[in-house]
Amino acid sequence: MADHRLLRLVPEQAETTVEEAVRALDLVGQAHDDRPYVITNFVLTLDGHATTAGRSGPIGSDADTAMLVGLRTRVDAVMIGAGTMRTERYGRVIGDQAERERSEREGLPHDPLMVLVSGRLDVPWDAPLFTAGGGRVLIFTHSDAEPPETATKLRIERHEGAVDLPRALAQLRRERGVRALLCEGGPQLHAQLIDADLVDELFVTHAPKLAGGTGPGLVSGLAERERPLELASLLYEPGTGELFARYRTGAR
Ligand SMILES: NC(=O)c1ccc[n+]([C@@H]2O[C@H](COP(=O)([O-])OP(=O)(O)OC[C@H]3O[C@@H](n4cnc5c(N)ncnc54)[C@H](OP(=O)(O)O)[C@@H]3O)[C@@H](O)[C@H]2O)c1
Repeated sequence: MADHRLLRLVPEQAETTVEEAVRALDLVGQAHDDRPYVITNFVLTLDGHATTAGRSGPIGSDADTAMLVGLRTRVDAVMIGAGTMRTERYGRVIGDQAERERSEREGLPHDPLMVLVSGRLDVPWDAPLFTAGGGRVLIFTHSDAEPPETATKLRIERHEGAVDLPRALAQLRRERGVRALLCEGGPQLHAQLIDADLVDELFVTHAPKLAGGTGPGLVSGLAERERPLELASLLYEPGTGELFARYRTGAR
């Protein structure tokens, strides 16, 4: 992982780096008995948008990407909704072989399980996640459609009517041994997880820019109710002015 110098502003001021901040996280050690410890990661503009021109990629800097990739190395599974998969066309979760080997040495998976949530099973089967052949993918869906052959190991888990997220997380914990899970969005999936009290921490990168337009924000369709958050840490990237905030929800 290319390292990036940061200033920690909260809890106490200190110099640090993305690498150091990520390595200090013990997420798998906080697994709940009945579901994984769940963190989410988003990058947002000052006006609260999660996309510019329909994509999240242009919002964050290289330091933001390093933080995201670093978080992937601290969990057993990464979850995204089908909308994010259709837009961002993911590849293998940890692209770097040396990083995969290091994760394994530290008691984490060589390849975190990639979990997709898709009602219609309408996903881009030609994306590198499915064609590259490395890693493992699990799709929760309520569709009866059959997936095509994929080079990457794929399993489908079907729910009736809609994907029941509490049940999906319980299955991941019980049947797949997932201790910690990183949800990378998008806003619709994020809102449902928060509404169901399934998110323990939010990692939010605040990028010092305005996007304008009508792109979605951190959540789409969240039920209206004030939910106080605790600011657990705040890191500042002097080169870009980005702020990396870590919030605790207090969900069990
Ligand atoms: N800034 C950031 O950090 C960030 C992060 C992630 C995404 N994004 C952006 O957000 C946009 C996508 O937003 P989005 O809210 O549409 O994406 P999303 O939450 O990833 O996907 C929504 C889709 O997920 C499936 N889904 C979610 N919950 C379900 C449930 N309970 N049961 C069955 N299916 C369920 C449905 O798939 P089907 O349509 O297959 O039924 C639904 O249409 C993209 O432009 C992406 O770039 C930004």
